[in-house]
Amino acid sequence: EKVYLNGEIKDAHDAKISVFDRGFIFGDGIYEVIANINGRLFYYDAHLDRLKDGLKKINIEFDTSSLPKAIDALISASNLKGQDYMLYIQITRGVAPRKHAYPETAIPTVMMFAFPKTLPDNNEVNAQVITRNDFRWSRCDIKMTSLLGNVMLNDEAKQHDCYETIMHRNGVFTEGSHCNLFFVKNGTVFTHPADEFILNGITRIAVLELCKSLNIEVKETPIKTTDLLNVDEAFLTGTTVQIASIQQIDDHILYTENKKGSVTKKLQEAFLKLKY
Ligand code: PDD
Repeated sequence: EKVYLNGEIKDAHDAKISVFDRGFIFGDGIYEVIANINGRLFYYDAHLDRLKDGLKKINIEFDTSSLPKAIDALISASNLKGQDYMLYIQITRGVAPRKHAYPETAIPTVMMFAFPKTLPDNNEVNAQVITRNDFRWSRCDIKMTSLLGNVMLNDEAKQHDCYETIMHRNGVFTEGSHCNLFFVKNGTVFTHPADEFILNGITRIAVLELCKSLNIEVKETPIKTTDLLNVDEAFLTGTTVQIASIQQIDDHILYTENKKGSVTKKLQEAFLKLKY
């Protein structure tokens, strides 16, 4: 396996970073995961733009214009040209003595790797999910590498043999531990607004655009936990889940067998034909 590290492509076991890297010590960095599907990186520019925004939000100075060339080199070295793969990009603040405030001279650490992965046909997924209190911090819009909250919440889903944990904060549903959350009620699609309580997923944005082009009404309004019994459909979106239909939320069954909702189905079918 090859790894891109600070301008060089190395074998994974030769790619070394300092234990004083602030990514390791503080989780002080951001990341992106991009899927290459049918020979193209899915909304590549949107992912790179979000990365750029993230760097700005946490005051890491790094010029991302060098990345596309580096990514090409990494994909070639990884023998992934023409295959489906996942690309991981991480930029941390760099190496500095352990002090909380941003160091003045640290040089960002840039690390990337890619691995072959053909996404499963998620039109086949009928997800069971659990609900938990969203105990993460209040800047979930930053795609930071410190994912302990997400990791803890996702592991609970695993312990319950479930596909995902969906979260609620102050009485409204926010998102999943690694994906965004949508509901459908009387033909209208609902999702939490892209504020500081969710990550504004690239897949989320693509699905919102799809709704518009399919004349499906959309409200970026969160669903209340007390309204759960009144929703008709629910689904998850994200780079690794695409659009995954939710069949069951805790004890509440939304549909049985493979009879998923018509809006979810319509969006899944249109999603496969997306040009990006
Ligand atoms: N997760 N919300 C959270 C908390 C996420 O971690 C992700 C992505 C999303 C969906 O974003 P996008 O559509 O841009 O992938 C929403 C990535 C894939 C991960 O951590 O592996």
